[in-house]
Amino acid sequence: MVSVRIVQSVLIFLACLLGGCAEAPVSTLQAKGPAASRIASLSWWLFGLGAFVYLGVMAFLLLALVRARRDQPPALAQAGEATKVVFLGGAVIPAVVLVAVFGLTLGTLRGVAPAEAPGALTIEVAGHQWWWEIRYPDEQITTANEIHIPAGRPVRLQLHSLDVIHSFWVPELHGKLDMIPGQTNILWLQAGEPGEYRGVCAEFCGLQHAKMAFLVVAEPAEAFAAWAERERQPAAGPADALAEQGQQLFLEMACADCHTVRGTAAAGTLGPDLTHLMSRHTLAAATLANTRGNLAGWIVDPQHAKPGNLMPQTDLSGEQLLALLAYLESLR
Ligand code: CUA
Repeated sequence: MVSVRIVQSVLIFLACLLGGCAEAPVSTLQAKGPAASRIASLSWWLFGLGAFVYLGVMAFLLLALVRARRDQPPALAQAGEATKVVFLGGAVIPAVVLVAVFGLTLGTLRGVAPAEAPGALTIEVAGHQWWWEIRYPDEQITTANEIHIPAGRPVRLQLHSLDVIHSFWVPELHGKLDMIPGQTNILWLQAGEPGEYRGVCAEFCGLQHAKMAFLVVAEPAEAFAAWAERERQPAAGPADALAEQGQQLFLEMACADCHTVRGTAAAGTLGPDLTHLMSRHTLAAATLANTRGNLAGWIVDPQHAKPGNLMPQTDLSGEQLLALLAYLESLR
């Protein structure tokens, strides 16, 4: 009976632990870039040192237990012996281990934060409650919630926040770095291989902190250059009458007060730039897949998927919604 209970408890504990994995299948130990590799190897070193200390302490404990059973009555420690144990086990060995940990950590910190890297790409990332504004100053690109980078090339990220403290974290590529209002922090990011890497906000920043995620898309150099060229362009005009009607709605309703669509009169800055909305994989900071259905649901009732965000509920007729969707889907 007791053993069944123990097995049940262990299973529930494991289910709780692994439950988190379904949401974000990313691990700091699956390093996909040079900085993450250094951090992962530091983690293994710390794990190894911790295991060594633990096993050592357990071995001495076992030895003491065996001796206490064997020597009846137990022999009292000699005066000098106890002092030796306290001095060695309580001061010398911990000091050696901690200095080693300190040295390894300092070495890793230096390794992942170079002063400068030749050929680096600069990207500015600003944290908002609860989305990411992304600017490429040299390429004159503004986008949101999806950072495209060339694989194999170092990227200098300038991180700051426009409201509260957020934290930028792409577990497979690097460690966390806080985004602080009024201060710019530099993070060097590099992906070894092309791929999509999920990033999250790692500092509680309000109601929808858990729905403040993003994607890093690392591409071969040519694919990145092609993406940048497309993103630089202003929005293409509406292709048909329905989309044109949608554009009118977009400009007349509250949409244009908060969102920018380059090439039109919409120049709001409270919400994400929508110039190339359809080129992105997700909506609402990696909360929803970017599909027609999710986009429609988001426009009609944005407070349902992400309560507390700044986007107001809209009171559109079915016809108006179709027109607005046709327009937004033209933003490729
Ligand atoms: Cu932004 Cu948590």
